[in-house]
Amino acid sequence: MLLIQDGARIAIVEKGPALLPHGQNVDITGVAMTVIKKMGLFDEVKRYHTQEEGTQLVDHNGRPLASFPIKENSIASFTSEFEILRGDMAKILWEASRAQTSTEFLFDTTIQQVLHNDDDSVKIELSNGSVQEFDLLVVADGQWSKLRKQVFVPESVNVIDKNMYVVYFTVPKTKTDNKWWNVYIGLQSRIITLRPDPHGTTRAMFTIMPHNEAQKIAWRNAIRAGRTKQEQLVKQEFASVGWEARRLLDAMSAAPDFYFHPMQQIKMDRWSHNRVICLGDTAFAPTPLTGMGTSLAILGGCMLAGELAQLQPDQHPMSALDAYEKAFRPFVEQTQKIPGILPGAVHPDMAWERWLLQSGISVVAWAASFPSFARLIGGNRTAEENNNGFKLPRYEKLDRML
Ligand SMILES: Cc1cc2nc3c(=O)[nH]c(=O)nc-3n(C[C@H](O)[C@H](O)[C@H](O)COP(=O)(O)OP(=O)(O)OC[C@H]3O[C@@H](n4cnc5c(N)ncnc54)[C@H](O)[C@@H]3O)c2cc1C
Ligand SMILES: *[C@@H]1O[C@H](CO)[C@@H](O)[C@H](O)[C@H]1NC(C)=O
Repeated sequence: MLLIQDGARIAIVEKGPALLPHGQNVDITGVAMTVIKKMGLFDEVKRYHTQEEGTQLVDHNGRPLASFPIKENSIASFTSEFEILRGDMAKILWEASRAQTSTEFLFDTTIQQVLHNDDDSVKIELSNGSVQEFDLLVVADGQWSKLRKQVFVPESVNVIDKNMYVVYFTVPKTKTDNKWWNVYIGLQSRIITLRPDPHGTTRAMFTIMPHNEAQKIAWRNAIRAGRTKQEQLVKQEFASVGWEARRLLDAMSAAPDFYFHPMQQIKMDRWSHNRVICLGDTAFAPTPLTGMGTSLAILGGCMLAGELAQLQPDQHPMSALDAYEKAFRPFVEQTQKIPGILPGAVHPDMAWERWLLQSGISVVAWAASFPSFARLIGGNRTAEENNNGFKLPRYEKLDRML
């Protein structure tokens, strides 16, 4: 959207037949929210708020063990001030860019091949056979990007597996589903959560950290096995976990948006090669464990547009790609650092570990209700400060257009 206002002609190629509603809550934190505000989309984002009131840990009867209500401008709760679904966020961005006449959206289309990529231009073949030439190809087809594989050698792309799987799907809402993010910690590294959405349904999430070799192999093999096999595995592994498991597993096969997600980070030695640049999860998937996937994608998009808009007529576009990477990479690398105790710490294996975790979290919830302690654990930091001091660079030309 920022680039279009700078006069660029843009074609967006999307594999899906239309905008798909898959995925659940994504975080837009700190500086990324500044970008949303600059684009004039802040009110839209607020309009799609999931209405979640906070996060609570529940026992096998659904009784709350510890509650973290949301607080304005604070990160004391796992629920943020701007809870929004991935599908709703995509829709907001789509609507905003669709309003610009110089953008072309090609649904049901993929890029079959990068035919040529050098200093001057990039030539691609679309899935319908048409060959087109562009000044720049931005590759943003996600964590498993097929295009990335065509342009970058495997040694330059590092996939870091976190031995954790997440399964998302939507179920009909029942009377017991409330406005909290209800988190049930089961044994053998299994967690189930239920969250409200603004569409009258409930969002279920299952997470697991396989602990023995056979289980690790079963989950790894499921990645490419397709939905039916994935559902079978989830049923088999979660049937005995308790709480709402039965109801959710029964509803799973009817869900329109079943999504199976292995937690893997992507780290690339360099994000661009000649006229091709990777962006978002393709370039630097941090995993939902960091809660930063969407924020990094938004920030990256803005900064890349900012650097391109700033190019002088005598400058080569590749100098903008270099400047962008130099300015953004340190923050990306910092964001991808996941504390060693996560995700294992929240996936207890044994009953005593679960007890320790639950009582630990109860103590933190209780202590966080005291302002001085909350400040100590960072609870009173505002959302804007929540980016470890990273500031959006000033792009004067962009700022003037917005
Ligand atoms: C289905 C799904 C659900 C998710 N749910 C969550 C969640 O609940 N919470 C969370 O924190 N993060 C979630 N994520 C990750 C989150 O979307 C990203 O971290 C973040 O938004 C950055 O997104 P991205 O645009 O770089 O990649 P993605 O969100 O992965 O988007 C990639 C896009 O490229 C399209 N595509 C894929 N292959 C091709 C191709 N060959 N040609 C053309 N188009 C292609 C896909 O259809 C998709 O629209 C989810 C991702 C997906 C794909
Ligand atoms: C393929 O799709 C592009 C983009 O919509 C279009 O411009 C082109 O004419 C199509 N080509 C063929 C051969 O259908």
